[in-house]
Amino acid sequence: MDLTGKVAIVTGPAKGIGRATVEALLHKGAVVAGWGRTAPEGLVHERFQFFECDVRDEHAVAEAFTNTQRELGPEIHALVNNAGVGLFGPIDGFSSADWHAMFDTNVHGTFYCTRAVLPQMKKQRAGHLVNVASLAATAGTANLAGYCATKYAVRGFSDALFKEVRPDGIRVTCVMPGSVETNFNGGHPGAVPDPYKMQPADIAAAIVHALEAPAATMVSEIQLRPAQVKK
Ligand SMILES: NC(=O)c1ccc[n+]([C@@H]2O[C@H](COP(=O)([O-])OP(=O)(O)OC[C@H]3O[C@@H](n4cnc5c(N)ncnc54)[C@H](OP(=O)(O)O)[C@@H]3O)[C@@H](O)[C@H]2O)c1
Repeated sequence: MDLTGKVAIVTGPAKGIGRATVEALLHKGAVVAGWGRTAPEGLVHERFQFFECDVRDEHAVAEAFTNTQRELGPEIHALVNNAGVGLFGPIDGFSSADWHAMFDTNVHGTFYCTRAVLPQMKKQRAGHLVNVASLAATAGTANLAGYCATKYAVRGFSDALFKEVRPDGIRVTCVMPGSVETNFNGGHPGAVPDPYKMQPADIAAAIVHALEAPAATMVSEIQLRPAQVKK
């Protein structure tokens, strides 16, 4: 589908995969609403608007949706549920606050944002939901039990949702990246790209690929891995 002039919402647009997705969508001619706690620094574009929104807060999400429609018009073509946090550590001693922060952001935030846009997409009989899960939704990893649980939840949500909304003409894609060089889990992207990690723009390109799929095609899942194995 041609993205020119189409309205897309991206959650967590400040940095990392979210910011790269905003930039890739702008490059494709889309009108982009960024929903996040922090605005992307230095990003000024006539087709980009930032709406303050903590995705853990269902009222803030509902307000962001109302403001987006007021500013950008009623039609919403895509929602990229990207905002997420990863907090790692062994389960004995794992803090309840960290556990809840992950579920509130990764799982409940995805639900709140999806619920906000779906009635409009159903009205349009068109729309595309992209949920950023992780390879942590495909296999468990020691010390990532909480994070894996949230991403398995996002993948399960995506799979069930695509069956639910396909009759309404709405597409659902679950994107599952491996290591990406971002600020995720305390990361600090270096000046030179890490050869053992993917770059945020690589994931953004996969998201755009799914969004641009021909009308008769739905890319249901995408798994992305670093090409080189770290020795
Ligand atoms: N990096 C990886 O290796 C990797 C691999 C697989 C999947 N992922 C997934 O990719 C997604 C993006 O992560 P990233 O790697 O780009 O990490 P990042 O650089 O830390 O970016 C995370 C983004 O989410 C936003 N965010 C966090 N909590 C939020 C909230 N409550 N409400 C609104 N926005 C919020 C952050 O902005 P503020 O903190 O300013 O609000 C930031 O813009 C996450 O879902 C993550 O689980 C990452």
